[in-house]
Amino acid sequence: MNLWIKGGHLLDPANNRDEICDILVKDGKVAAAGSLLSDNPGDFSGENTRIIDAAGKYVMPGFLDLHVHLREPGFEYKETIKTGTAAAAKGGFTAVCPMPNTKPATDCPEMIRKVLDIAGRDSKIHVYPVGAVTKEQEGKEMTDIAGMVKAGAKAISEDGKSVMDAELYRNAMKEAKKAGIPVMAHCEDKNLVGAGAMNAGAKAEELGIPGITNAVEDVIVARDILLAKETGVKLHLCHCSTKDSVTMVELAKKEGVNVSGEVCPHHFSLTEQEIPGDDANYKMNPPLRSSADVEALRRGLSEGIMEAISTDHAPHGEDEKKKSIAEAPFGIVGSETAYALAVTYLVKPGYLTPMQLAERMSTNPCRILGVPGGNLAAGMPADITIADMDSEYAIDKNNLVSKGKNTPFHGVKVQGRVYFTIVGGEVVYEYKE
Ligand code: DOR
Ligand code: ZN
Ligand code: ZN
Repeated sequence: MNLWIKGGHLLDPANNRDEICDILVKDGKVAAAGSLLSDNPGDFSGENTRIIDAAGKYVMPGFLDLHVHLREPGFEYKETIKTGTAAAAKGGFTAVCPMPNTKPATDCPEMIRKVLDIAGRDSKIHVYPVGAVTKEQEGKEMTDIAGMVKAGAKAISEDGKSVMDAELYRNAMKEAKKAGIPVMAHCEDKNLVGAGAMNAGAKAEELGIPGITNAVEDVIVARDILLAKETGVKLHLCHCSTKDSVTMVELAKKEGVNVSGEVCPHHFSLTEQEIPGDDANYKMNPPLRSSADVEALRRGLSEGIMEAISTDHAPHGEDEKKKSIAEAPFGIVGSETAYALAVTYLVKPGYLTPMQLAERMSTNPCRILGVPGGNLAAGMPADITIADMDSEYAIDKNNLVSKGKNTPFHGVKVQGRVYFTIVGGEVVYEYKE
């Protein structure tokens, strides 16, 4: 089936195109993107063509979420590759990177192949698995990084924790560098975090809950940047949440270190002050921070110091998240709300232009991971997200297709809706009222 996407507002950061035009899709690829092709449909007039009216909507290269937890295998009651990728498609994502903290961990070539097998059967979007840095994520023995890459891993990460042994981590970075893949770093000093369950500050004191200081993140960010400088590996910092993370990434880039950073929607949308009480839907790792941190993250995204918006989509069971903040697991769902939160908290207040939003959600993540996408020039894969920035509605956790309903954004009014998600020329998600 060909597609004729009519009259949309193309935002194509890779080619610096910001204009109203038509896009033709044939054989899974962009056939042409040009000024109102409507008079000259050529091959695109017959029965074999679906016309999509994109008037009043933005047409962007498909979003890539560098950071999700799909929970399969091992925690299928929280999420599966099928439900998690369906949620991502609904959020406008044409590709996701599932993190390795499954059970068993995604820590060997066989497990990478297993994830890809299930994805091949159950996912309509691209799945780019991330392999663990150490076996069983125990921090003791390096995984077969070259083997995992050969099996299809696109990055390595110990997400959920940091590799505390700096020498082991440095060796893994050397292997990743050799294999040509990035290291995605969850930055959290295990010895500093203690029993911390939310940001160390006035709110934690008020609630009587142990705090997580900024230094818990910052000391590992500093260490990892220095190790990346030494090894030359491509370092991608996951879920940056502190102002000093932004400062350090800025400085490292000036020094020529190959580093990038992602910010999650919850970290640029909410401060710790907005935590209403002991509600674990506001618990994630790293935690919601102070308004000074949130402002620095927004500025970092605005200036391009922070290059990517990723969700850290972390579904959990309802019973697990009913527990107190001190006891519940870390994590919130994010796939289905990311785009609207980015529009509402970044584009509307002027931190990002629509073009910059497309770049931070698509073009930059694809470049960081080294995969195709993020580009709608003729001949490129037809991975496309069509969305507006005006629709107003309240987020409703009961409408989520993810198994996880653990979101702090239930009832929050947002702007921006995804209408179509297209992968390889196939419509994989379509908004229906
Ligand atoms: O909030 C989080 N949830 N942070 C992490 O680092 C892990 C993740 C999870 O797996 O639930
Ligand atoms: Zn993490
Ligand atoms: Zn994570």
